[in-house]
Amino acid sequence: MATVTIMPSGKSVEAAEGATLLEIILSAGEGINHKCEGKAQCGSCHIFVQEGRKGVSKIGREENEKLDTIVGVGSKSRLACQTKVLGTENIKLELLGFSSGL
Ligand code: FES
Repeated sequence: MATVTIMPSGKSVEAAEGATLLEIILSAGEGINHKCEGKAQCGSCHIFVQEGRKGVSKIGREENEKLDTIVGVGSKSRLACQTKVLGTENIKLELLGFSSGL
């Protein structure tokens, strides 16, 4: 188990290994867009992983290609639906504005 802290609210939740950040964010009751329902096609679930980047799965080809099309992407950018918790490290992520990736 790893603890995931969701900014800017600061809410912390326990996350099981293999869960996606999107699932964790939604189960914590936080708002995040996920228009393609987790297929790496819409980019609306773009977040920043601020801490614990070794504690999540690596970026895959589909995710990388989608991120390339989003404005405002940086080195901490991930698609929440494609990012799985490995359970080895605690994670701090930042939700972006609802206009991100649209
Ligand atoms: S929900 Fe569409 S890319 Fe993540």
